[in-house]
Amino acid sequence: MKLLTHLTIILSIWLMLCSASPPPRQVSQLDANWQFTREDVSGAEQPGLSTAGWETVSVPHDWAIYGPFDPEVDKQTVLITQNKEKVATEKTGRTGALPHIGVGWYRKTFAVPDLTSDKKALLVFDGAMSEAQVYVNGQKVGERPYGYSYFYFDITNYLNKEGENLLAVRLENQSFASRWYPGAGLYRKVQLIVKDQVSFKHWGTFITTPFISDDQAKVQIQSRVNGKDVRVEAQIKDAAGKLIASNASSQQFGDEIELNLGISSPQLWGPEHPNLYYAELKLYQGNELKDEETIRFGVREISYTAEHGFLLNGESTKFRGVCLHHDLGPLGAAVNTAALRRQLTILKDMGCNAIRSSHNMPSMEQLELCDEMGFLFLAESFDEWAKPKVKNGYNRFFDVWAEKDVVNLVHATRNHPSIVMWSSGNEVPDQHGSVGVKRAKWLQEIFHREDPTRPVTVGMDQVNATMKSGFGAIMDIPGLNYRVHLYEEAYERFPQGFILGSETASTVSSRGIYKFPVEPGKNKTYDDLQCSSYDLEACSWSNVPDDDFVLQDDKPWVIGEFVWTGFDYLGEPTPYDEAWPSRSSYFGICDLAGLPKDRYYLYRSRWNTKDETLHVLPHWNWEGRKGQVTPVFVYTNYDSAELFVNGVSQGIQHKSRESNQHRYRLMWMDVRYEPGSLKVVAFDKAGNPVAEKEIHTAGKPHHLELEADRTVIDADGKDLSYVTVTVVDRNGNPCPNATNQLNFSVSGAGKFRAVCNGDATSLELFHKPTMQAFSGKLVVTLQSLKDEAGEISLKVKGKGLKAAELSIKAE
Ligand code: GAL
Repeated sequence: MKLLTHLTIILSIWLMLCSASPPPRQVSQLDANWQFTREDVSGAEQPGLSTAGWETVSVPHDWAIYGPFDPEVDKQTVLITQNKEKVATEKTGRTGALPHIGVGWYRKTFAVPDLTSDKKALLVFDGAMSEAQVYVNGQKVGERPYGYSYFYFDITNYLNKEGENLLAVRLENQSFASRWYPGAGLYRKVQLIVKDQVSFKHWGTFITTPFISDDQAKVQIQSRVNGKDVRVEAQIKDAAGKLIASNASSQQFGDEIELNLGISSPQLWGPEHPNLYYAELKLYQGNELKDEETIRFGVREISYTAEHGFLLNGESTKFRGVCLHHDLGPLGAAVNTAALRRQLTILKDMGCNAIRSSHNMPSMEQLELCDEMGFLFLAESFDEWAKPKVKNGYNRFFDVWAEKDVVNLVHATRNHPSIVMWSSGNEVPDQHGSVGVKRAKWLQEIFHREDPTRPVTVGMDQVNATMKSGFGAIMDIPGLNYRVHLYEEAYERFPQGFILGSETASTVSSRGIYKFPVEPGKNKTYDDLQCSSYDLEACSWSNVPDDDFVLQDDKPWVIGEFVWTGFDYLGEPTPYDEAWPSRSSYFGICDLAGLPKDRYYLYRSRWNTKDETLHVLPHWNWEGRKGQVTPVFVYTNYDSAELFVNGVSQGIQHKSRESNQHRYRLMWMDVRYEPGSLKVVAFDKAGNPVAEKEIHTAGKPHHLELEADRTVIDADGKDLSYVTVTVVDRNGNPCPNATNQLNFSVSGAGKFRAVCNGDATSLELFHKPTMQAFSGKLVVTLQSLKDEAGEISLKVKGKGLKAAELSIKAE
């Protein structure tokens, strides 16, 4: 009896010890308490230096977003061949005019407790802008030139056996290295992984679903491991944590162990139902648990055929996609999940189902959200290969680094079900000539070797050249950038049997700005450096949305489009590349603040097939235009509507084949402006009035309306709420021309993070709590504080306006 009691006690202690033993792998976020300087301090890589002159920052961090805007920063005197320019001109805001050029150093101390000889430590960067050189305890551990590349180093042998270690990262951005604002610094997350020497290799597991039927899916898990005589155990769980399948294997070929598991009645992943599963993997040597990893994946099938185009889970699916640059407007390039989620939420409501990460590797956060929210993803790699677009661009690194960068892209992201296609390049000058064809094939084969499950595209703008040289013919997916007039010919000449609009439209507009007379135009410019929101203006190489819609609708072999772009971005202020102070793009469907432009509703009327769209433009505040022709456009999913000015009918318009515009928009071209009310009544197919929308001429700015996209956020020091501030008249009508200077104060459990009004010519700084409204609106971003729950209050004031206040919660 006594013996039994003793045994029970020993067993319980043993069990306690087992359960208390630390997990075999520890992942730490290196996010807080970095030191940063813009000085190129020699010896910064050495430990024990003073902190004088260094500021404390947290990572992700973008050192350039705090400005000031300066036309001299990276002023590029260039001839942009892809824009069909004939002479070199001085381009001021091309890379955003923010101070990203030069050197920046980051330092951080960290400890690795219990670093026994059976452990190894990896330092993982999701990207670092750019030309990273990484030092640990004064010794260089490695470098990575491409700012968008994911990379890691095994730093085990550089670590101190006891006490603190010093990590130092030197970054440098050259001028003439980018065509848009690249951001600067450690703009994506940095992690330290400490694990056993016997462990899963980093990014070493590839999960695929090579067989799917209604009853069953085969899940294949291929894990590369460090170590011999090991066993991998896998459990598959659904999103609710229910165990679905398990298996184990110790059969090792080289460094790989493969497991096959079955899921019965699999819940497939797709934009409508983004079902996800989790593979919990454990690595044993004998009875000892050496490593564990949980990898999320989806069960989904993709194919691209001449007969059916793109099939997702057996269903023909067209890409209703947008291209996105990586910057998050007023936050710069510093990655933030809440900011990305807001973008995707806005796009989802528009009916968008796909994202192209132009023209580089996406952030992990963006891919995770696309998996969860149901977006198809085209993951791109490069804007340049060996031939330059900009003197100091990726061409400097291509020969040495391209393969390594592609391998890391594929290995780090291949388990994301959202990725349905890779892109090895965008409009690379190597489209010309036979060497370029060989390069295209070489890169495509690297993608195939690393991931046999997904096809590869290139965004091609030199379509004639690629038809001649064979460049387009060898691509898995021929992607055309613009060139709507060449789709037919490319379809005939290329062997694939389908065409992707890898980049489309490049229509330009400024939110809430309208120009008269209303007529289509290319490269139009105005004295105020804005573009008209009648959505009829594009560049010499580009077109308006309707021209793409025609191809998408009439040609079954066009498998979809990726519109340039979903949101405005910093830099590339075409058609004002040469005009200061333009410093951000006009291409966005939404502006830099994330506010929808009119075009948003044109896409929504087509892409969102579930909800009603009835949007009228322009605004109805045209002092000085009384009696003048002021055309009215309506973007709607309905085929016809009647328009009224102050109750007087302006007639019924039907969508028609008269022109591409008439097919997708309702347009009243002869309306004469009278202040008052503008009302549209839409009809269903039977001619019954089913919806109406009315806007009014607003009086003087009187007060402010505040609306938060989220009223409860996480108290984690990262989460964000975006508050749209609208200047309204006494009766609550938005004042579409208001430019009031507004001031913000934030109190409670949060802080003011940024403000943006969407004006591409504004030089006010995003992080200062004051800004002018643009077209009557702006957006304030609030951020929670770490571990501080409670109310966050925002107060907005403006001269002559009644102040407004709004509170949200952090919990
Ligand atoms: C494309 C290019 C994009 C952007 C766009 C503007 O040719 O791929 O990066 O420059 O033009 O229209």
